[in-house]
Amino acid sequence: MRGKRILLGVTGGIAAYKIPYLVRLLKKSGAEVKCIMTPASSDFISPLVLSTLSENPVAIEFWNKSDGTWTNHVELALWADLFVVAPLTANTLAKMAIGACDNVLLATYLSMKSSTLIAPAMDLDMYAHPTTKRNLESLKSDGVGIIPPGTGELASGLHGEGRLAEPEVIFESINAYFQSNHTGSYSGKKVLVTAGPTYEAIDPVRFIGNRSSGKMGVAIAQAFAKEGAEVTLITGPIHQIVEHTSIQSIQIESAEEMFEKVKEYWPQMDSGVFSAAVADYRPKFLADQKIKKSADEFSLELVKNPDILAWVGDHKSETQQLIGFALETENLIQNATGKLQRKHLDFIVMNSLQDKGAGFGVDTNKVSVLDKNNNLTSFELLPKVELAEKLIQLFSKSHL
Ligand code: CTP
Repeated sequence: MRGKRILLGVTGGIAAYKIPYLVRLLKKSGAEVKCIMTPASSDFISPLVLSTLSENPVAIEFWNKSDGTWTNHVELALWADLFVVAPLTANTLAKMAIGACDNVLLATYLSMKSSTLIAPAMDLDMYAHPTTKRNLESLKSDGVGIIPPGTGELASGLHGEGRLAEPEVIFESINAYFQSNHTGSYSGKKVLVTAGPTYEAIDPVRFIGNRSSGKMGVAIAQAFAKEGAEVTLITGPIHQIVEHTSIQSIQIESAEEMFEKVKEYWPQMDSGVFSAAVADYRPKFLADQKIKKSADEFSLELVKNPDILAWVGDHKSETQQLIGFALETENLIQNATGKLQRKHLDFIVMNSLQDKGAGFGVDTNKVSVLDKNNNLTSFELLPKVELAEKLIQLFSKSHL
């Protein structure tokens, strides 16, 4: 862990007494450590212990009244290669899940560009409460890694699940994170990702669209960025705001606008993932004014949109990697194989609409991936953020 910069967040639970030992383990392994404490956590452990062991000042307040300085939470977040919150109380967990930032630890969490790992610790009934479970799921789908609590004797005297994972276990999880997650498999590579629906205008107020949320594509863009890629993300109208220093976000509306941007960017790219749900057709004529209702029937003439992925497949060099998506309701493998060959793809990701929790709008997805050598990899139902990371691991194997 030599040279890794670990930001350790400590919240107000009795298990905070184990954290000095964790700081020692991290420091011994060569990591740089800075600590942030919630004000409540200093009732359990002295900041002096953590600042002495970490060899860095401890951040607790936004404004340090004694010397008039303020804590720059944005700088702290940018400094860190990884943010670890241990122990994480039910209260801070809930605040992280809703994006509250009434202390330095929470404001830093919201400013993080690197990943966050959490080690929850609370009494067994608090841990088992549906609210806690919901909040943990919510953070998980935001890409936060969870170091599960252990089972055993709790400070309340009760026995059950909820005690903070032992410092050695937290240390190993941090180590595993650096071994596996941040391999930088796309370091220095340029990747293009398309995501979301396209809107095809009928008149100034109406359009033809589809139910794609863009969540899968955004998760893929973020996973590539984590792997060191410089990402250009072209999205149709989506609700998610994508903020990442390594992601350039370009918003378009129609398939033709997406096509123009793809043509502009594709030649400089090393890889492309085309997850957008592009409308196959658009209205032949765009009315200047809002169309007034008159007759009982109204028909709209449509013309075919350019097949963006097919164009990219035809303009792909030997070294460029190309990945498409397919949504089939019948003859899944046969149709996907046809698409993979016609569009000169390296991989095709097959979405399942049959499975509950998979597909449009939801936070989870279930896919299988076929590569150009006919290898099939099937994934279980997973949060889109987690699935995106697994997909990128798979793509990186053929690309390296
Ligand atoms: N795609 C595209 N441009 C289009 C249509 C689709 O780039 N005009 C891309 C999508 O982003 C996706 C893949 O092509 O990666 C989907 O292939 P497509 O042949 O359109 O399949 P389906 O949408 O599944 O539809 P169909 O089976 O009707 O061809």
